[in-house]
Amino acid sequence: MKLLVTGGAGYIGSHTVLELIQGGHEVIVADNLVNSSRESLKRIQKITGKTVELREINVCDSAAMAQIFSEHHIDAVIHFAGLKAVGESTEKPLEYYHNNIVSTLSLLAAMEEAGVAKLIFSSSATVYGDPAELPLTENSQTGVGITNPYGQTKYMIEQILQDVARADDSWQITILRYFNPVGAHPSGLIGEDPGGIPNNLMPFVAQVAVGKRSKLTIHGADYDTPDGTCIRDYIHVIDLAQGHLAALEHIQAGCEVYNLGTGKGTSVFEVIKAFEQACGHTIPYEVGPRRSGDAVVNYASAEKASQQLGWRAEKDIAAACADAWHWQSQNPNGYEEETK
Ligand SMILES: NC(=O)c1ccc[n+]([C@@H]2O[C@H](COP(=O)([O-])OP(=O)(O)OC[C@H]3O[C@@H](n4cnc5c(N)ncnc54)[C@H](O)[C@@H]3O)[C@@H](O)[C@H]2O)c1
Repeated sequence: MKLLVTGGAGYIGSHTVLELIQGGHEVIVADNLVNSSRESLKRIQKITGKTVELREINVCDSAAMAQIFSEHHIDAVIHFAGLKAVGESTEKPLEYYHNNIVSTLSLLAAMEEAGVAKLIFSSSATVYGDPAELPLTENSQTGVGITNPYGQTKYMIEQILQDVARADDSWQITILRYFNPVGAHPSGLIGEDPGGIPNNLMPFVAQVAVGKRSKLTIHGADYDTPDGTCIRDYIHVIDLAQGHLAALEHIQAGCEVYNLGTGKGTSVFEVIKAFEQACGHTIPYEVGPRRSGDAVVNYASAEKASQQLGWRAEKDIAAACADAWHWQSQNPNGYEEETK
């Protein structure tokens, strides 16, 4: 297939582009590099020997999007492009609503115009808000208790996609709700390269491990969990990337939703321990106050994806930490400032 991948230079996008190329697909990336580097695509070239065409555009720019579809016969689109920092979204709600929603509308219009029907969208477990039941299934309640504009954009886009598919049955849309993506490609050549202070646990731990930051702050260790820290479903980014290939193979008319998670919860202390094993030394940390808006426990039911897509996560937290450490220790400054 010839695929358009929006946000393909970013963390999950770059790993998926790599898997797609290795799976024999042709890929065009549309990315404005607002939170990524073209170096990720050069590294993919290094691994695969294949060049990835980068269109450095804002997906909100409908004319630029239409141009891509007029130049290429695109079979399907994977839409990763979006702003994703939860904390920042509460400070800059307009920027988040505009970027994430307008980019999706612009993409859908360009696809409709070009007659491209297949779309895979990156949603998030944040649409479940504060989980009312565990494990979270695709039928669990969504849209209630979402505490930040980022999560709202994902919920709103899901509604838009459901409406679009309801109105015209030629659309084939798959919504993938990611749990907590972690790890890196085992080559150590591509990985997560957060600008500024990392928002998520694993890249923060990795930066402490490599000496870029002095210590980790744990946001609360007095929760009602076995070790007092929050529990999440960490999914290796390679498993996640392969989930997109499975979704692409099984895409069908309408709008289907799948969780991409492992089905297993891991606590903050367990992540720290696994990372210490991977890097061979201790990770200094302190326990700080709880962070408002954090769900206590959150993990997926991964059954629907297993039954309908034939996909299951295969890598565990130890593999994710080993690969994250390999990436971080080989690239202590990520893709380097000058290439951003
Ligand atoms: N990483 C996570 O924890 C996580 C969890 C659930 C869902 N997601 C979603 O998965 C997707 C990919 O996440 P990621 O972790 O790879 O993030 P990322 O920031 O590394 O990648 C997003 C990419 O989109 C690009 N982008 C953003 N807005 C754009 C625009 N208007 N036009 C063109 N390019 C644009 C950025 O430059 C970046 O390359 C996002 O939609 C994110 O919300 C991520």
